[in-house]
Amino acid sequence: MKHFKFDDENIPFHDGESVAAALLRAGKWRFRETRKTKEDRSLFCGIGHCFDCIVVVNGEINQRACLLEADEKLSIRKQLGVN
Ligand code: FES
Repeated sequence: MKHFKFDDENIPFHDGESVAAALLRAGKWRFRETRKTKEDRSLFCGIGHCFDCIVVVNGEINQRACLLEADEKLSIRKQLGVN
């Protein structure tokens, strides 16, 4: 099975699966923290509207995990302190 990195852990995924789906299946539901209150956020709408699922992908912030297709080239980190 293929993998991508999430905070230095290998997360398995199936071809065509979204990053969000793979993370949830792996038990990783904390995708980001809110800036002011540091509350955890995860998948909410699942269709690209709410931005609750944003993560850092290969150093680029504000990437929506629900819209991003999983790929072995991805190195993803929990997003801290933005929005
Ligand atoms: S879960 Fe709402 S934009 Fe991704």
